[in-house]
Amino acid sequence: MQFLLHVLLIFAFLNNLKTMYPDIKELHSYWAYGVLIFLLLAILNSVVGLSRKKPFGKNDRSIALIALIFTHVQVLIGIIMYFLSPYLETAKQMGMGAAMKDSTVRLYVVEHPLINIIAVVLITIGWSKHKKAETSEAKFKKIAVLYAIGLVLLLSRIPWSAWLS
Ligand code: HEM
Repeated sequence: MQFLLHVLLIFAFLNNLKTMYPDIKELHSYWAYGVLIFLLLAILNSVVGLSRKKPFGKNDRSIALIALIFTHVQVLIGIIMYFLSPYLETAKQMGMGAAMKDSTVRLYVVEHPLINIIAVVLITIGWSKHKKAETSEAKFKKIAVLYAIGLVLLLSRIPWSAWLS
């Protein structure tokens, strides 16, 4: 009986999430500004730190941490959206072969999620490597390089025309 109740609750929750898709999409859309701005700030801050040979301090750590948190939250929102997305439904109806030939469906169903997850993994590696690094120079370098690669990957798979229109 209790199991049935849980199943019903999960269905009700998922149904509710579906009606919230436009709001979740809007959140994902606005959150993306935070992701890009903080990643850029963390990278610029590390480049300045490196070139001025500054000691790696509390503020440097905070900027890198805020950028990391923004990207992680964005991935969580993205994963929830993915399973509710009309593009996934379209891809299922078209069949994977045909879906992969449609550049818009391919972008939303495969490229955007996959490349962005890889980007966030690299950013996370940058964060954990900076923690293990022993010198300030090495800390700044890990953040600058891995966050920058992550940012370039993110920028390469943002649906720009849909986002900015
Ligand atoms: C840090 C990583 C990410 C960034 C910066 C990002 C950014 C964006 C942006 C700017 C849009 C366009 C929103 C609009 O049209 O207003 C978008 C759409 C979308 N994103 Fe992401 N995203 C990220 C990660 C992900 C991940 C990991 C997934 C899925 C696993 C995902 C799923 C989606 C989906 C399904 C849409 C299409 C929404 C629609 O038009 O119905 N995103 N994303």
